[in-house]
Amino acid sequence: MSGLDRPEALLSEQQLRDRVCALGRQITEDYAGKAPLLIGILKGAAMFMVDLIRVIDLPLQIDFMAVSSYGAATESSGVVRILKDLDTAIEGRDVMLIEDVIDSGLTIAYVLDMLRRRRPASLKVCALLVKDKAAAAGLKADYVGFTIPDKFVVGYGLDHAEKYRNLPYVGVLES
Ligand code: IMP
Ligand code: MG
Repeated sequence: MSGLDRPEALLSEQQLRDRVCALGRQITEDYAGKAPLLIGILKGAAMFMVDLIRVIDLPLQIDFMAVSSYGAATESSGVVRILKDLDTAIEGRDVMLIEDVIDSGLTIAYVLDMLRRRRPASLKVCALLVKDKAAAAGLKADYVGFTIPDKFVVGYGLDHAEKYRNLPYVGVLES
């Protein structure tokens, strides 16, 4: 058994670090005087989330949700299931969803709709990656790390069949 294979890089470790720092500064400014609740969507957003919160200078709190993903397929099934709900009540809170990638936008739309009904004071989305087709369809996150081509990417938390999450950069998976 040898090491993890290395898909071709789309975003380097340095690019990710720089962009995450910039997002952290922006969020710190925009939420000055507030104590937002950042909600990471497991498992893909975990690595982004832990890097991001380290560069946000606010008295924030974190929580996590798990929703069903594609399993081993690379196409969205259109079915979103809640596997783990929040531990925290969000009514009256400034909530920010942290997502790894917006592809079809189905997942985020479903989660936003569900959380909106719990009456947070505000509800925003911070996505590390937004694919071109989502951007073209008018699906916009409030904070976006990178807009990327419509390719299947792995690494920096993103997986294919649970593999590659520990890759320190974002690479393109050959189909
Ligand atoms: P959407 O519902 O089509 O927007 O897909 C969102 C979810 O699908 C993400 O949270 C990921 O878990 C997964 N996903 C979509 N595109 C990719 C990709 O290129 N690589 C890895 N996971 C992806
Ligand atoms: Mg995800």
